[in-house]
Amino acid sequence: MGVVVAIDGGSGVGKSTLSKALAGHLGLDHLDTGAMYRAVTHAVLEAGVDPTNGEAVTELAQRVIIHVGAQVFVDGDDATEAIRGPEVTAAVSAVAAHPGVRAELVARQRAWVAERRGGVVEGRDIGTVVCPDADLKIYLVADEAVRAARRAADEARVDHAEVASDLARRDQADSTRRHDPLRMADGALEVDTSHHSVDELVELVLDQLPGGNPRA
Ligand code: DC
Repeated sequence: MGVVVAIDGGSGVGKSTLSKALAGHLGLDHLDTGAMYRAVTHAVLEAGVDPTNGEAVTELAQRVIIHVGAQVFVDGDDATEAIRGPEVTAAVSAVAAHPGVRAELVARQRAWVAERRGGVVEGRDIGTVVCPDADLKIYLVADEAVRAARRAADEARVDHAEVASDLARRDQADSTRRHDPLRMADGALEVDTSHHSVDELVELVLDQLPGGNPRA
């Protein structure tokens, strides 16, 4: 196995930006596991299935065909924009709370890493569940105001207070769910992204790689 980097943290802490930059520097592929939970949620809503119905949602998760990359495809349809929309954002925590959905997506995520013999994987449970043996585990945090501003920009929304309360609600749901809640993994390095540029963060993380910074 090559290098595996696990990046975890709540919404709007800068996971995707940092993960993509790191992957570019290390010549590795990048997997956004949040996009996978969003893709399943999109399929659930399209099928008219109740997101709280664990059995029906799990059954759908097991058969849906997901491609997650620069674009996201769900059963062959381009869902890149839809998975970031308000309907999916509102329902994704309920979908991600079902143990059957998690088992299915964790298996797919591990297969993704094994096929590539490494990669930069971002999510909520990467260091704790998906890749507990990762070479490097990073747990990102950021000030609340910074997170709300970033998410508002991502979602092209103007009401930061509303975005902040959505973030708080989703964090609460993701951190208190019974199965694989968001928490810092053993051996993870906590990094606060509030007041650093992406370049500074990339350097900081590369310095922590077991083999040393490949750019130094
Ligand atoms: O990172 P994001 O906001 O796109 O993630 C969407 C949701 O998916 C998030 O509210 C929690 C869930 N998720 C998860 O439970 N486990 C992961 N590894 C990634 C995301």
